[in-house]
Amino acid sequence: MKGSKVKPAEILLSASEIAGIVSRLGKQISQDYEGREPILVNLLKGGVVFLADLIRKITIPHRIEFMAVSSYDNETSSGVVSIKADLHVSIENRDVIIVEDVVDTGTTLAYIMEMLQLRAPRSIEVCSLLRKTNSNGSRVPVRYVGRDIPGVFVVGYGLDYNEKFRHLPHLARLEFPDKRN
Ligand code: IMP
Ligand code: MG
Repeated sequence: MKGSKVKPAEILLSASEIAGIVSRLGKQISQDYEGREPILVNLLKGGVVFLADLIRKITIPHRIEFMAVSSYDNETSSGVVSIKADLHVSIENRDVIIVEDVVDTGTTLAYIMEMLQLRAPRSIEVCSLLRKTNSNGSRVPVRYVGRDIPGVFVVGYGLDYNEKFRHLPHLARLEFPDKRN
């Protein structure tokens, strides 16, 4: 069965390393957005664990909203982004921070940014826990990056493979026994 033998391999970021990164990002956002009450737009579902920890490190008033999008078919980006659930609030004249789990090709973010820009926010920035260094992630400027990682498939801390492994407290490389990763 496809994907049945995949398993998490070495740990790329431990739970405590992640906690340190999230604290740093929360502090930075709190300083940069002082007095502006940003809207944190979280991309479901991979980003929820990150968001939950991040907001507890943000010390200024802010609100959270969610969008669900998908561009992935198992482990490969399909390049086609579809909106599964849109925002329920207006972002007009607001400061928006997109909170994402990982920027790989940048396809998802480029699409979302373009779509949200049409709604006339005051600003849009991106906060991503991870950014893959192999990729063309520079297509989209990511203002807040937790950690640059190699271009491997990772799971844990909210990130999944076919809805599995989101619950791991750390981030691990996923091993695909049938092919080189
Ligand atoms: P992009 O459009 O190629 O930048 O892909 C970004 C989206 O694909 C992210 O929001 C993730 O949900 C998913 N994704 C990309 N790489 C990984 C990974 O290594 N593990 C789990 N999900 C991933
Ligand atoms: Mg995902």
